[in-house]
Amino acid sequence: MMSMKFVIANWKMSPATEEEAVSLAEKIDAENVVIASPFVFISAVGRVLKKAILGAQDVFWGGVGAHTGEISIGMLKNFNVRYVIVGHSEKRALGETDETINQKINAILENGLIPILCIGERAREIGVEGQELKKGKEFVRQQLEAALNGINFLHLPARDNGESQLIVAYEPVWAISTNSGGTSDTPENAAEMIVFIKEVLRLYLGLVTPKVLYGGSVNSNNAKGFLSRSEIDGVLVGGASLKAEEFNKIVKEASVTEN
Ligand code: PGA
Repeated sequence: MMSMKFVIANWKMSPATEEEAVSLAEKIDAENVVIASPFVFISAVGRVLKKAILGAQDVFWGGVGAHTGEISIGMLKNFNVRYVIVGHSEKRALGETDETINQKINAILENGLIPILCIGERAREIGVEGQELKKGKEFVRQQLEAALNGINFLHLPARDNGESQLIVAYEPVWAISTNSGGTSDTPENAAEMIVFIKEVLRLYLGLVTPKVLYGGSVNSNNAKGFLSRSEIDGVLVGGASLKAEEFNKIVKEASVTEN
């Protein structure tokens, strides 16, 4: 059976203009691709997508009200946004807390959209020699439990189209953004961490079929290593999602044959 893994394009604060955003979206529009556009381009990008699904990079957790500068889930739904990234390490670095992340996830789930929860650690980078993976696991387990505190997936309405209720992206902080010195994880270690994350999601949080992706300096050269691992359900791509040719090569690698 042919099955595609997920490839999520996180454009971050790019491109610079709506024209470029639309042109890029048209070039990378494909099945099983999610495009997380900056808010200001969501409407224009949504109009040209035929196959890819629209995502956002953040959302405010509250409903209606006086919240200067915020974007509500209702607004995103208006533009057919389906996925929302939450807890990216770049947002956490600017002060986003576990509590806010938890509130956002609750709100996204309540509104029937799908959170892409980013978790990552520095613990493996600064861990004791030989103990890095163990330290990393302890850290991501705490992050997961804090982000998903009080959420019972068994009580959420099942999705009838086989969609996952939640996507988790394991993005080790030190692996993010080649341009700022990040180096990708090895597929072996990423797979080990992802297996662990799935265990936590199943055992402690009751998520029956967790989908967990890898993110951090994925490009067309290393994508195959991650995407060919059965434990890894796809990749979250930052920098390389801004170059259509490069991104499309990654999407091609995501088409795998399953028994
Ligand atoms: P990168 O970004 O692919 O540029 O490392 C990934 C991410 O931060 O989501």
